[in-house]
Amino acid sequence: MRLVLVGPPGAGKGTQAKFLEERLDLVHISTGDIFRANIKNKTALGQEVEAYLAKGQLVPDSLTIRMVWDRLDQVEKEVVSGEKRGWLLDGFPRTLDQADALKEGLAERGLALDAVVLLAIEDAILVHRLVGRRTCPQCGASYHVEDQPPKVEGICDVCGHSLIQREDDQEATIRQRIDVYHGQTKPLLSYYEKEGILLRVDADQSVEAVSSAISLALQA
Ligand code: AP5
Repeated sequence: MRLVLVGPPGAGKGTQAKFLEERLDLVHISTGDIFRANIKNKTALGQEVEAYLAKGQLVPDSLTIRMVWDRLDQVEKEVVSGEKRGWLLDGFPRTLDQADALKEGLAERGLALDAVVLLAIEDAILVHRLVGRRTCPQCGASYHVEDQPPKVEGICDVCGHSLIQREDDQEATIRQRIDVYHGQTKPLLSYYEKEGILLRVDADQSVEAVSSAISLALQA
């Protein structure tokens, strides 16, 4: 299965991707996570993209598309060998040019997307979710200071590492990211609707209810 998760910042893409990865035996590919790992490790790519993430702007398409295809071509080997049942893109595509590049690249390889799952949610809820988000830089676990606090304040329940607040989770940057979503990513919804592969899920429900709604929509 080859899937895309799309939705505004804070819709719950990363949260739901973790469930889907396990349940459907997919490889989770998050462009945001790949960029953040490169920034943390001070690679050349990390240095090139750091300012875009800090400002809540999109990384240029040419850089992002090349990076995604490098990863997808590795993952496809695991799919062909039967090690994995497919992949799940979280945070890509985010522009029409990225969507075209994905479609064309897949067609060249004799492949196609099975579905694009939209996590639909109002903007007002997103700011609350992201201002309160804390993440573990060690294992990737995600918390919310009010709605889903860790057992010990500031410490990851899973691995005991100190939690951090993402640099782009400041209110002004969150609002910039939401604007970027509306301007550059929302046009993808009609693009995939025309292709007949867009599945809309109400993301303003509990994590478990969203997860069940995705399974129902995918019939998986
Ligand atoms: P990225 O890391 O992809 O960030 P994003 O899209 O802004 O999404 P988030 O990770 O903030 O939110 P999410 O939807 O995953 O929500 P989560 O599950 O964490 O991208 C970061 C940056 O990288 C971009 O701004 C850009 O600069 C660059 N970039 C990435 N991809 C790019 C691309 N393709 N092209 C160019 N640039 C790119 O949940 C959020 C919070 O809500 C958590 O606290 C969670 O616990 C809580 N929560 C989740 N679900 C629920 C629920 N159902 N109910 C209540 N709370 C919930």
